[in-house]
Amino acid sequence: MTPGPTNVPERVMRAMLAPIVNHRCEEFSSLFRRIVDKSKTVFETNGDIVVLTASGTGGVEAAVRSVVRSNDSIVVPIFGEFGERLAETITLAGGKVIRVNAPYGSAPEPDAIEAAFEKAGKVKALCTVSNETSTGVRYKWLKEAGEIAAKHGSFFIVDAVTSLGGDEISVDRLGIDVCATASHKCLAAPPGLALLSVSERAKKYAVENPSSTMYFDLAKQFKFAEKAETPYTPSLPLFYALDEALSIILEETLPKRIQRHKTCAEAFYDAFEALDMDGFAQRDLRSNTVTAFKYSNGVDDHKFRKTLEEKFQVHIAGGFGEYKGKLFRVGCMGEVAAYHVLTTVAAVASALMLQNIRCDPALAMSVAEQKLRILDR
Ligand SMILES: Cc1ncc(COP(=O)(O)O)c(C=O)c1O
Repeated sequence: MTPGPTNVPERVMRAMLAPIVNHRCEEFSSLFRRIVDKSKTVFETNGDIVVLTASGTGGVEAAVRSVVRSNDSIVVPIFGEFGERLAETITLAGGKVIRVNAPYGSAPEPDAIEAAFEKAGKVKALCTVSNETSTGVRYKWLKEAGEIAAKHGSFFIVDAVTSLGGDEISVDRLGIDVCATASHKCLAAPPGLALLSVSERAKKYAVENPSSTMYFDLAKQFKFAEKAETPYTPSLPLFYALDEALSIILEETLPKRIQRHKTCAEAFYDAFEALDMDGFAQRDLRSNTVTAFKYSNGVDDHKFRKTLEEKFQVHIAGGFGEYKGKLFRVGCMGEVAAYHVLTTVAAVASALMLQNIRCDPALAMSVAEQKLRILDR
């Protein structure tokens, strides 16, 4: 129940047993084409798809490197650790970051972004995290952000590492030029692959303006994609796994999958509130894929999470930086279903009681159960 890597369905694990073929043969090309076709449905785009053998950080770096060049001004809403990392990635690429900060637990509103654009003059791109994993905040203004970028003729780049496949990231509708995600979050495949969608405009720019990177240069990816190949050796077992994981998404259908994530997240919020723990994120910005909660008085973070792991085999995550010890985060991604929610809520209530914290487990279970009722089970 951590915010990734998430549980991987057995079907996906088994897919990795297929033979290791060479990535310059027809079998690989057909696997490549299948992945690209299915990914387009999941990203809801007609743009290009790139799959890198890399973690999410590699995907975000490739997205940044596709359009950020030396001295470019880049507007970045920053409302958590992954926004900070995005800013650092841009700085390392030579970009000048124009920060739009918001206190952790909230996010900058579109007006603040517009003001940053007005003040900066020429802005090359707007880069944002869509789901801030460190605070459990969902950036609900992606549409408005995309409109601001479009109005100013800027590229729109989104880190959708913990949202794509579990929340609404309709790439073309939102006007996203480059969108990056990773295999081991809402897609429920093992870690090791990063996926990007790239708009026609961003592709043209990347091809005409080579970036100073070898592995993360998208222009090289596009060249080989014409033959349905990757420029460098891909992790073949992970490509097989991703192909199967994408099939599972399409079988469930994207709208149903997104609704399942939302319902499970709501069940977590209601249940933990019933245990006297408040969600960390501003209520209207609560994430559907990573839920974060403040501890009620007297809970020892280390003991609590150790109990969950050792006595109940439930793994959750703690807080980042200054929030270490003050909050905990429960992933709500991929395969997440009523079973995971109810098991986690029961374990959390038990772990609290083992620390002599008074709570009402029956109430927590019943409010969760009520929310989960709408799921097919
Ligand atoms: C929003 C976001 N961006 C980027 C990353 C980095 O991904 P990875 O750890 O796979 O490199 C993460 C990881 O959790 C994330 O949550």
